Amino acid sequence: MEKYEISEWVADHPRWSEIVDFFDQHQSGFSEFIDGYDQRDSRVLVAHSNRVILGVLRFIVIPIGPEDNLPAVKVNGKELLQAKVMNFFVSPEFRRKRIGMNLQEKAIELARTSHCRQLASFSYSQNRENHALKLRMGFTVRPETRGSERHGLYFLMPLASSGE
Ligand SMILES: CC(C)(COP(=O)(O)OP(=O)(O)OC[C@H]1O[C@@H](n2cnc3c(N)ncnc32)[C@H](O)[C@@H]1OP(=O)(O)O)[C@@H](O)C(=O)NCCC(=O)NCCS
Repeated sequence: MEKYEISEWVADHPRWSEIVDFFDQHQSGFSEFIDGYDQRDSRVLVAHSNRVILGVLRFIVIPIGPEDNLPAVKVNGKELLQAKVMNFFVSPEFRRKRIGMNLQEKAIELARTSHCRQLASFSYSQNRENHALKLRMGFTVRPETRGSERHGLYFLMPLASSGE
């Protein structure tokens, strides 16, 4: 097994061009701002060895509500934020080695320290591996229709402690 670590990369990372190539190859490209969202931040977690990128998870930070054309949920006048996973991919040759689960665990940590109330993702019905992984990790699940997708799944992991 390739020895790897997971860390957050930002645009001035010395290997940033590799992540751009990885997104081009596997995720239809990388753009700083994702259209259609009230995006407040964007974070990229990379599973990498010295030699190669094994997998990636990107989330954006958005208020809870506007994604569904609804007003933001507020507490004491302050909008609640969520981390929404927009990209989650492990290269086929490195799958079933817990890299995906480790990326999700790091995302949970990072989202929590970024004051997000929950980690959210939407997954199309064909993404069975992703469904299995999220259910195994204890995400809550809600079926959702979207365009021609009749049985997508929306996953949520709560991050706030009680009383927050
Ligand atoms: C989803 C994905 C990122 C998972 O990455 P991974 O590194 O292979 O996942 P892990 O090894 O951490 O899997 C953890 C657990 O999830 C479940 N799981 C993962 N892949 C599975 C599969 N093909 N079949 C059944 N269960 C699976 C298992 O419970 C697994 O634990 P186990 O290996 O001990 O049984 C990877 O399959 C992938 O990149 N798929 C294509 C892209 C994709 O669908 N992304 C999500 C878009 S919404």
